[in-house]
Amino acid sequence: MTRQTLDSSIVAYASTMNESEKSNDPTPAATGMKKGLTSYGDAGFSLFLRKAFIKGAGFTDSALDRPVIGIANTGSAYNPCHGNMPQLIEAVKRGIMLAGGLPMDFPTISLHESFAAPTSMYLRNLMSIDTEEMIRAQPMDAVVLIGGCDKTVPAQLMGAASANIPSIVLITGSMLTGSHRSERVGACTDCRRYWGKYRADEVDADEIAEVNNQLVASVGTCSVMGTASTMACIAEALGMTVPGGASPPAVTADRIRVAEETGTLAVKMAHERLTIDKVLTAKAFENAMRVLLAIGGSTNGIVHLTAIAGRMGFDIDLKALDRMGRDTPVLLDLKPSGQHYMEDFHHAGGMATLLRELKPLLHLDAMTVSSRTLGEEIEAAGPGFKQDVIRPRDNPIYPQGGIAVLQGNLAPGGAIIKQSAADPKLMEHEGRAVVFENAADLATRIDRDDLDVTADDIIVLKNIGPKGAPGMPEAGYIPIPKKLARAGVKDIVRISDGRMSGTAFGTIVLHVVPESAMGGPLAYVQNGDRIRLSVANREIALLVGDEELARRATEKPVVIPTADRGYRKLFLQTVTQADQGVDFDFLRAAEMLGAIPKL
Ligand code: FES
Repeated sequence: MTRQTLDSSIVAYASTMNESEKSNDPTPAATGMKKGLTSYGDAGFSLFLRKAFIKGAGFTDSALDRPVIGIANTGSAYNPCHGNMPQLIEAVKRGIMLAGGLPMDFPTISLHESFAAPTSMYLRNLMSIDTEEMIRAQPMDAVVLIGGCDKTVPAQLMGAASANIPSIVLITGSMLTGSHRSERVGACTDCRRYWGKYRADEVDADEIAEVNNQLVASVGTCSVMGTASTMACIAEALGMTVPGGASPPAVTADRIRVAEETGTLAVKMAHERLTIDKVLTAKAFENAMRVLLAIGGSTNGIVHLTAIAGRMGFDIDLKALDRMGRDTPVLLDLKPSGQHYMEDFHHAGGMATLLRELKPLLHLDAMTVSSRTLGEEIEAAGPGFKQDVIRPRDNPIYPQGGIAVLQGNLAPGGAIIKQSAADPKLMEHEGRAVVFENAADLATRIDRDDLDVTADDIIVLKNIGPKGAPGMPEAGYIPIPKKLARAGVKDIVRISDGRMSGTAFGTIVLHVVPESAMGGPLAYVQNGDRIRLSVANREIALLVGDEELARRATEKPVVIPTADRGYRKLFLQTVTQADQGVDFDFLRAAEMLGAIPKL
C-alpha cells in the first residue's frame, strides 16, 4: 500500500468512528473492543491499530461490534484435570455466539496438584495475579473462568474479584470412577487408602501397580469431596456458576450443556453489567460457608474462601465459623467423610438437592450470576426425589459441620480439624509429642524401626506453613509411622502448620497460626512435651509453661525464611498466614468492610 492510499484509508476509517473513539480521552464506560485501549497517546490510533490486528485474524466489523466475552483457558498438557478444555471452550463459544456475543479465549497459568513443585499453593497467588491482570489488560465485557483442579478455581475467583467485571465460573467437572477387582475406586481418597495398605504390606507391588491404572478413570477433577469438588460446590453456593454447574462429571453431555449455558449467560451479564461485587456479597460468602460445612468439604476450602473474601474486603471470623458449624450437619455422603463419589452426587440432583435441604440456613436473597436470587434458583430446580447420597437434616451423616476450629496456647491464631473424617476415639486425647523439625526430617525418620513412637503419641511436624516450606504444602497428612501401620494402627493424632488434601482423612490438626517459621509456639515444641486435643472444647493445648516456652525461644530463636530474588522473594515477603487466606498482603482489598459470618 502506498503512503497516500494508507493515509486516505485512515481518514476513511476515522470518519466511521464516533467522537469519543477519536478523542484522546476515551470514556471509561467504553465497551467491547473499544475497552481498555493501549496507551499510544492517541486513542483513535489505538483503536485503529487494534482493529487492524484483529481483522488480520479474520474478524469482520460485524463481529467486532458485539459484547466481548473473555474465556480464561487453563488447558495444559500438565493438567489432566482440565483435559476436556477444548470441548468446554467450543461449547462456551457456541453459547456466547448464540446470544450475540464475541468469544475471545486467552491463556492463563494452569496448576495441577501433581505437577507443581514445591506445591500448587505456592503458585495460586501468581495465577490469581495472572487472571486479574489479563482481565484488566484485555478488552472484555464479561469473563468466563474455566477451572477445576484444586487451586485454579480459587485463583480465578480471587483475580476476578479484584478485577470486578461480570464474571462466571465454569467448572471442568469431576473424573469418572474406576474399578479394581470389582471394587469401585477413585482419586484420591482411595489413592491414599491403597498406599497406606501398601506401606503396611497388605498389598504387594503388583497389586498397587494395578490400582494405579484405575484410580483416575478419565480426565476431570478428583472424584471425591476433595478440594476441587469442594470449590466447585462453593462456587455454585456463592452464586458464581449456572444453576447445577458444580456436579456434572467432565466427560458428560450435562457438562457440555452447562458450558454452553455459561457462555450464553455471560453475554446477558455483560449487557446487565452484573459485576462480581454484586454476587460476592457477605451473604454469598455465608452461604458458601454453610455449604462447605454441610458437604464435609476440604479444609482447604476455608483457606481459599478466606482469600476470596479478603479480596472483597471481608475477614473470616473463625470463632463465628465454628459456631456456624455447630448447627450445620454434614449431609453429603461422599468420601472421605462418607462413601459415595461426585458422579453419585450429580445423579442425586447435585447442589439443588443439597441447597433445598439447607434452605432454612441460607440467605435466599443472595444474588447469583443468573440475576435471580439463590432462593429463586432453588425454587426453579423443582421438587426433590428419592436418593441416598444427600441426607435430610434430621438424619445427617455427621451431626455438626465437618470442620471444627481449635484454639489454645499451641495455636493462638487458631487451627482446624476435619472432625467428620477423624477417628471419634481420638477427639479427646492427651499424648506425648513426637517432633519432626521439617518435611525432610519427617521423610528421613518416620519409617525407621527405632523411631520412639506409640499409637498414643501425637506427631508434630513443623515448618510446613505458608513461609516455612514455603507455600503451605499438603504435607499435614503425615503418614502413620511404618512400624505402627504394620501393627494395624489406622489413625494417630497429628499436628502441623501445613494443609492436607481434601481427599485425606484422619485425626489431623492443620493450619496452626502463627506458623513455626514465624516463631509461633509450634516452633518450640520438643519431644516428650504433653499436648491435649479436645475437639469438644475446641482446644489444642501445649502443656508446657509460658516461662519454659520463653526460655526455649530465647535459647534458639527462629530465623524467618527469606529469598534473594524473584517470585520466592515476593512470596516470602508478602504472604499472609492461614487465617488471612495465605494471600499476598498487597492483594487484599484496600478497604476492609468487616468480619463474616455475622453470628
Ligand atoms: Fe486435580 Fe485432584 S489433582 S482435582
